[in-house]
Amino acid sequence: MIGTLLAACTKRAATSPVSDHAAAGPIKIGFIVKQPEVPWFQLEWKFADQAARELGFEVVKIAAPDGEKLLSAIDNLAAGGAQGFVVCTPDTRLGPSVVALAKRRGLKILAVDDRFQNPDGTPMEGVHYLGISARKIGESVGAALQAEMIARKFPAADTAVCAVTFDELDTAKARTDGAIAALVATGFSPDRIYQAPQKTTDIPGSFDAMNILLTQHPEVKHWLICGLNDSAVLGAVRATEGRGFAADKVIGIGINGTDCIAEFEKSKPTGFYASSLLSARQHGYETAKMLFLWIKEGKEPPLVTNTVGVMINRDNFAQTLEDQGIR
Ligand code: GLA
Repeated sequence: MIGTLLAACTKRAATSPVSDHAAAGPIKIGFIVKQPEVPWFQLEWKFADQAARELGFEVVKIAAPDGEKLLSAIDNLAAGGAQGFVVCTPDTRLGPSVVALAKRRGLKILAVDDRFQNPDGTPMEGVHYLGISARKIGESVGAALQAEMIARKFPAADTAVCAVTFDELDTAKARTDGAIAALVATGFSPDRIYQAPQKTTDIPGSFDAMNILLTQHPEVKHWLICGLNDSAVLGAVRATEGRGFAADKVIGIGINGTDCIAEFEKSKPTGFYASSLLSARQHGYETAKMLFLWIKEGKEPPLVTNTVGVMINRDNFAQTLEDQGIR
């Protein structure tokens, strides 16, 4: 009985905005992700767990594929005595509601991957955020597509670009805009750069988007493909295969580098040629650590942290993944 009462008191203390969280017991944080089935997010969780083990705090991993789940996850974290959470939101427009709820519940927030948006679409600059240098990474994809096209001697006249887009998400738009800009800057004709908007950011979403484009452009014999991440490019590559394009007629370059490993391990090369490998460790370990130190020592993280990518392909992925502790 006393134990129950004590637990209830601790919980209340831990969720009250005015309480001293550090004194309330072991630090507990949430790590909420939008797509738990995707290796990228599983790796973020894995590295967050590693930080928790090494630094001595607790991490609660929660999947929130929609807004309802996200808001109830925040309530549950508060009720369970957590003092903050790292989150990749399923919808950046939920930002203001998430911030209001977290404030009411006395929880600190660190947004990872996808930056919260104000109702007018601008980024919520007051919310701490760790994401990628999206424009630069996109540009590196565009430049690599162009270089590989030249190496394979694709004729310019029958080669086109498919950018699988998801402009609702800032980091996605910056990536595909960057790729397109780099292709144009290196001389690719803008007339043959097509955008294929995906309705959902998964393989079926990009498969459908690419199929529409393939129907519209039967004259194209060679395709260069980019998108928001590996799934965007994988779906589009699968669509080209479905229409009979051989692997050597297609160059797809993804982003993440974590969701295409099975592709690189196939015995024969596919149209999925390379990916910009992001740092899952920084996105999982460092975010969890930053939040922990913020709660424990009041050490506020930088408002914005941007991470970089390195290009991997079938030749070097195994070693690079090993070096990064992913394999
Ligand atoms: C977004 C994408 C993920 C991954 C992260 C990296 O959330 O949906 O696939 O690329 O950004 O920050």
